[in-house]
Amino acid sequence: MAGKTKSAAVPSPPGTLTTIDGVAWLVFDESDKKVNTLSSRVFEWFEEQLATLEAERPDGVVLISGKPLGFIAGADIEELKGVETPEQVLGFLQRGHALCRRFEALPCTTVAAIHGAALGGGLELALCCDRRVATEHPKTKLGLPEVQLGIIPGLGGTQRLPRLIGVPDALDLILTGKQVPAKKALRIGLVDEVCHPANLAEAALTVLKKEKIERKGKPFAKRAGDFLARTPLGDRVVYSQARDNVLKKTGGHYPAPLVAVNVVKDGLELPLERALDIEAGAFSELVVSETAKNLMSIFFMKNDVEGRAAALAEKGRPVEKIGVLGAGFMGAGIAQVLAYKGMPVVMKDRDHASLGRGMGYAADRFDELVKRRRMKPPVREIAMGRLFGTVDYKPFERTDFVIEAVFEDVGIKHAVTKETEAVAPDNLIFASNTSTIPITRLAEASSRPENFVGMHFFSPVHKMPLIEVIRHPGTSEETLATTVDIGRRMGKTVVVVNDGPGFYTSRVLGPFVNEAAYILLEGATIEQIDRAVKAWGWPVGPIALMDEVGLDVGHHVSQVMVEAFGDRMKPPEIFQAMIDDGRTGRKGKKGFYLYDGKEKKVDQKVYDLLGWREGSVSDDEIAERCWLQMLNETARTIEDGIIENPADIDISVIFGFGFPPFRGGILREADRVGLGQIVDRLDAYAERHGERLRPAQLLRDMADKGETFH
Ligand code: NAI
Repeated sequence: MAGKTKSAAVPSPPGTLTTIDGVAWLVFDESDKKVNTLSSRVFEWFEEQLATLEAERPDGVVLISGKPLGFIAGADIEELKGVETPEQVLGFLQRGHALCRRFEALPCTTVAAIHGAALGGGLELALCCDRRVATEHPKTKLGLPEVQLGIIPGLGGTQRLPRLIGVPDALDLILTGKQVPAKKALRIGLVDEVCHPANLAEAALTVLKKEKIERKGKPFAKRAGDFLARTPLGDRVVYSQARDNVLKKTGGHYPAPLVAVNVVKDGLELPLERALDIEAGAFSELVVSETAKNLMSIFFMKNDVEGRAAALAEKGRPVEKIGVLGAGFMGAGIAQVLAYKGMPVVMKDRDHASLGRGMGYAADRFDELVKRRRMKPPVREIAMGRLFGTVDYKPFERTDFVIEAVFEDVGIKHAVTKETEAVAPDNLIFASNTSTIPITRLAEASSRPENFVGMHFFSPVHKMPLIEVIRHPGTSEETLATTVDIGRRMGKTVVVVNDGPGFYTSRVLGPFVNEAAYILLEGATIEQIDRAVKAWGWPVGPIALMDEVGLDVGHHVSQVMVEAFGDRMKPPEIFQAMIDDGRTGRKGKKGFYLYDGKEKKVDQKVYDLLGWREGSVSDDEIAERCWLQMLNETARTIEDGIIENPADIDISVIFGFGFPPFRGGILREADRVGLGQIVDRLDAYAERHGERLRPAQLLRDMADKGETFH
């Protein structure tokens, strides 16, 4: 390769600058990291390269990544972790803006060549180039995901993006944090050219040399939406609509998107230089907000949980073929995700009718993917071809890992365990998707209990990101590691817990919904309970959740829980009456709600059925009692050694139940409120409503010592 290499003075520079035939190749490649991110160190290096470029005045610059896959994934948010005051971050932003302005002002054409993720600060840097080329590769994604961390783009994204692609499309990206593939980016004008990954450098050069590019970028207000956005009517239509949508989606719990709307709007009325100051000011206020801290903590906790799971998974053994027992709602969902992720699966049910329903369910999920353009039709055929249905055990002769999802019944689960082990290879790992039954109890039927493990999925499987893996005392390390590996290959976040009835998640969900049922009998309405709990930030109310889970299933679970833990897990006597009245919940179209039309409606007959009398419970009390009961039981699972790591707990409640992310998890919320106050509240509730609300000993002890969970 001809040309000269300029390397920075630091020992391991985050990239290289090479000039070939008059074109400077600015290659980002942080050798000590898997992905490139922007940090103070990178800024420093970039400034040095800019000085070289300004001095040497090449004909053009190509900004590209040296990673095999991945452009720049965003700013290194580790650097934002310790920020306590807006002033601390303002300097960093101003330095970034100055750098971007200098890059933009280079007297030559600049092109960003994007392969892999160009997110956040990475995309913002690419926006400073005159042109952008992106590869048509499934991993090439462009987006500004900052709002998901409770902040807004801070390196000019709120200003350069709307100036480039127009306000409506820009708001769509900035307010949702969505990531678009190259072709969509081309359609909205975010990139100028899409190419095959093998041709990226060539395509960048072609764009660079094509013509003398108009260096001012595309003229503003050339799109209809832009034009509209700049008129008084447009203000009402575009920005107000954006605000309404945000409020509808977030319930007002997430300030960043609303701030972003204002920053875009105000900034567009100003020259870029001043607009960037507005962005920097807003960013630095948001970054120290509680919401941002909580959302960022989820990012770090997820990395922590996944890092531990990845390390464990490395000790697993290879698995060739997976079997799924039961083609019901869960079995079919599990089999579909396995096949989608490239693993051959054989799914068994008792009869052809049940198997057919399961195969149909999996086919529907694949069809959805095709419809949403997430999968091409021939790829769908290949993926569906990995899924083989059967009603006998013959194909299990070659499965080395089986996930069991038959009825929640110890007898049936024991029977299928024995039947499978009779035909499968000796080293078979058997993972049960039971939602409540202790794995130790299920493993009694196994001739190889060391190969027996729990693998608890959440429904619907294709959407829910969590798997709770349960080890019983005899589960071998290899079995555990292999199970975690399969979970990771399914694209899920895996939390490992110890065995016990309901493990962690099912156990703590019980007191949450039970409390709602008690509150209903105290005279709150179904509507009020669900509304109050949703207003606190949960995605669904507890009464609607009971309908979703199924009242028969819930009743069965609570019997197991009462048997194991006694009266504090006892629900009020309403479920039997509901079930006797033929109310199973959504699946039977009738529970607390009716599911006839498009929108579910509370069935007023339920009130008579339960002998309900109107009473008064405040919204605050409803939301508080429900979450405190989940916390109370969480404390007991810690006491019992089921789960221990606060990150595992907070990730489980957020990914498993949708615990309000802006609160950062149930333990982070407990820390915020203060354990002393929580213990007092629970004691007061226990006096009024019963011993089930008495605080767990762990909460008392921690409160006495002034401790926190995190
Ligand atoms: P389901 O009733 O939809 O499916 C069970 C399937 O197992 C049926 O198709 C049935 O024909 C089949 N089956 C029964 N005996 C069989 C046998 N001997 N051999 C082969 N297949 C047999 O139930 P669902 O909801 O899929 O639940 C399955 C398991 O997953 C249960 O243990 C449940 O507790 C657990 N689970 C359920 C969740 C949910 O939200 N539905 C969530 C997490 C776990």
